Amino acid sequence: MIRSQAKSHAVKPQESFGALMEITNRPPLVFVEGRGSWLRDQSGKAYLDFIQGWAVNCLGHCPDAITNAITAQAGRLLNCSPSFYNEPMIRLAELIARHSGLHRTFFTNSGAEAIEGAIKLARKWGQKYRNGAYEIITMAHGFHGRTLATMSASGKPQWDRLFEPKVPGFPKVALNSLEQVKQAITDRTVAVMLEPIQGEAGVFAASDAFLQDLRTLTKRENILLILDEIQTGIGRTGKFFGFQHSGAAPDIMVLAKGLGGGIPLGALVAHEDVCCFEPGDQGGTFNGNAFATAVGCAVMEEIAKPGFLPAVAGTGAYLADRLEGLSRKHRCGGVRGRGLLLAIDLGRETGPEVATEALRRGLLINAPRPDSLRFMPALTVTPDEIDEMIDILDATLEEIAN
Ligand SMILES: Cc1ncc(COP(=O)(O)O)c(C=O)c1O
Repeated sequence: MIRSQAKSHAVKPQESFGALMEITNRPPLVFVEGRGSWLRDQSGKAYLDFIQGWAVNCLGHCPDAITNAITAQAGRLLNCSPSFYNEPMIRLAELIARHSGLHRTFFTNSGAEAIEGAIKLARKWGQKYRNGAYEIITMAHGFHGRTLATMSASGKPQWDRLFEPKVPGFPKVALNSLEQVKQAITDRTVAVMLEPIQGEAGVFAASDAFLQDLRTLTKRENILLILDEIQTGIGRTGKFFGFQHSGAAPDIMVLAKGLGGGIPLGALVAHEDVCCFEPGDQGGTFNGNAFATAVGCAVMEEIAKPGFLPAVAGTGAYLADRLEGLSRKHRCGGVRGRGLLLAIDLGRETGPEVATEALRRGLLINAPRPDSLRFMPALTVTPDEIDEMIDILDATLEEIAN
């Protein structure tokens, strides 16, 4: 375990900050080391990490399973170009097929790139089988990435007028309103796309009943159901994929984040019946490289071990229980989410302030909206680490209230 210790890395942050493009307000810290649920900065200070690269390091920082896979693959084969097969690429596609029930995968380097692929696949399918239909109905407050098309598909109100003109073809409806989806379907509609739990919006779940009704409706209307499982996939909710709670299997599923356990890897996964790309339609220099997919195999094999997913569900229930207690004590508004993707409603707009003070006290926590905190620890987080996080948060909430 990493604990605070004397300064060990001679990084001079002030000298290098100016060479980086400013894309967000970063605190003046430089992280140099991570292990499990812990991070250490260049001054030697330790931090308990409940962000984990935004739900990316599903096995925590630098787990042996990933370090070993990286070392082994780095000495064997990194990239033989996407024009050729490599062993880990084939193995990872088979693992995803086995655990999802879907059939074919195209690997990407990020979540947004995988969503772009899903949009292209759906539009291609619309051209071939639905008279050129191209519109994809998406949800208000949904989040699908930061490329132009994925920003257009997202329902983030702050992005409404950003980087105009947007990519057309993404009518929005309210999450959990089957009626609004029905009204939005036209001859131009090719698919409905949503996250099983809206993560960036602040952890708001599509209900199981809504997902089941959506599955029935999309089948009846002969349009596709696309699930963005970038945040909910790879064990995050206590099942391999979020859709497995409702049983509403999508035609297309998109993965990233946890799939690479900390390295860039995404996946566009589809049912056999909708795989209609022809040679030249889709590709990319780094896609399916042996290095990244070998890491993906290591992650999938860990998650598939007997007892791993039930343990995530158990730890998630423990975290939810401890957060409920904290919510009662500080008169907050309750806890929402599933497995280890949870949020607490603070009942007041102090989220950013709480996150800043928690950081000062050695806890990384995210405020996706002013009135909420989001928790996305490593899936391997222990009850002791949860207790330690609760103690820091308790003291932080006490401090902010006074
Ligand atoms: C649900 C969802 N979709 C898409 C993305 C975009 O993924 P990436 O940042 O890897 O492009 C994210 C990232 O936060 C996400 O949470």
